[in-house]
Amino acid sequence: MILPPSTLGILGGGQLGRMFAVAARTMGYRVMVLDPGPDSPAGALADIHLCADYHDRAALERMGRACAAVTTEFENVPAESLEFLTQFCPVRPGAAAVAIAQDRRREKAFLQSKGFATAPFIAVEKHADLAVAFQCVGAPALLKTARMGYDGKGQAKVNSLAGLEAAFEQLGAATCILEAWLPLQTEISVVVARGVDGQTAAFPAVENRHANGILDISIAPAQVAEELAGKALETAVAIAAALDYCGVLAVEFFVLDDGRLLVNEIAPRPHNSGHYTLNACLTSQFEQQVRALAGLPLGAPDLLRPAAMVNLLGELWREGQEPPWGAVLSQPRAKLHLYGKGEARPGRKMGHFNVLADSADAALKAALDLRGALTA
Ligand SMILES: Nc1ncnc2c1ncn2[C@@H]1O[C@H](COP(=O)(O)OP(=O)(O)O)[C@@H](O)[C@H]1O
Ligand SMILES: [Mg+2]
Repeated sequence: MILPPSTLGILGGGQLGRMFAVAARTMGYRVMVLDPGPDSPAGALADIHLCADYHDRAALERMGRACAAVTTEFENVPAESLEFLTQFCPVRPGAAAVAIAQDRRREKAFLQSKGFATAPFIAVEKHADLAVAFQCVGAPALLKTARMGYDGKGQAKVNSLAGLEAAFEQLGAATCILEAWLPLQTEISVVVARGVDGQTAAFPAVENRHANGILDISIAPAQVAEELAGKALETAVAIAAALDYCGVLAVEFFVLDDGRLLVNEIAPRPHNSGHYTLNACLTSQFEQQVRALAGLPLGAPDLLRPAAMVNLLGELWREGQEPPWGAVLSQPRAKLHLYGKGEARPGRKMGHFNVLADSADAALKAALDLRGALTA
């Protein structure tokens, strides 16, 4: 076990790294963040912020020598950098798992090879692949870049071969997957932690509602049949085991109109849909990340109360005006989390709030009321 006050390292300085830093420092660890931006949300709360590129070998070596273990807060860190760090300290999750999660093509191929159902898809590398792919997948379809896509970016819905050709061009003719457009009844996700010894703890499944491709609201627990929620938890645990994973893993699922459960994508880190755990669970997903990284036993993932989480995006700052936070801060069962980001751009995740209530429905209603008050 790595015990406090050892130093834990995290690659990436966004809001997920920031919440990791809070959890780690609360437990008495020191935190080192590596992020190329001088004003990163996590760097601001870390003991040490290495302002360097993710490929910078000297900075990585410094981090590896200073830290008892290193993790990551986003999937797009170069897998080679994680590999490089392993000569100095444990890196959890490992480079192999992150390399799978950072490439949709590898991710889907991996999931299918292990028997987990996903959307039908075909990889597209060049123009010449488009016609056959379109024929196989049918319309409508969704073209997604294999790498670097997030929050619905790097995706285009297409209805014709001409449309597909234009979309491929628009996405830079980079390697993509073409995926069947599916009739979604709802979307759910499960955040699971897996320790060095293979112990697992899954948080309850939550229901996710998106707006413009970005997560808007999560409702915990998901209002789906118990059997379906159970299957999602089992699947998330099985995926973590198949990856020989150590750390926090998020699994996004589609629930189709016919009730089938498909894996959409995985994230090798805490997840936006798990932010409700900060206030509604006995252990948060970030404490769990610290525990898995440090080789501690995992905390209990019990849901203490139903909750809803609402993302606060940059568009709330109308004409640069700070939103009326008093509305959220006056609600005794709401918890405001802001990430300390300077510039509020549309679509940028600036913060979130959680509301707890006696039922998931009541939490959702309270969350929508509060959101209404912020946008009034
Ligand atoms: N095959 C699909 N059919 C229908 N909707 C989809 C499909 N793939 C993605 N979506 C919608 O787009 C959202 C974002 O897609 P996703 O693959 O999760 O990428 P991102 O990395 O941007 O989260 C999903 O949460 C879902 O709402
Ligand atoms: Mg997604």
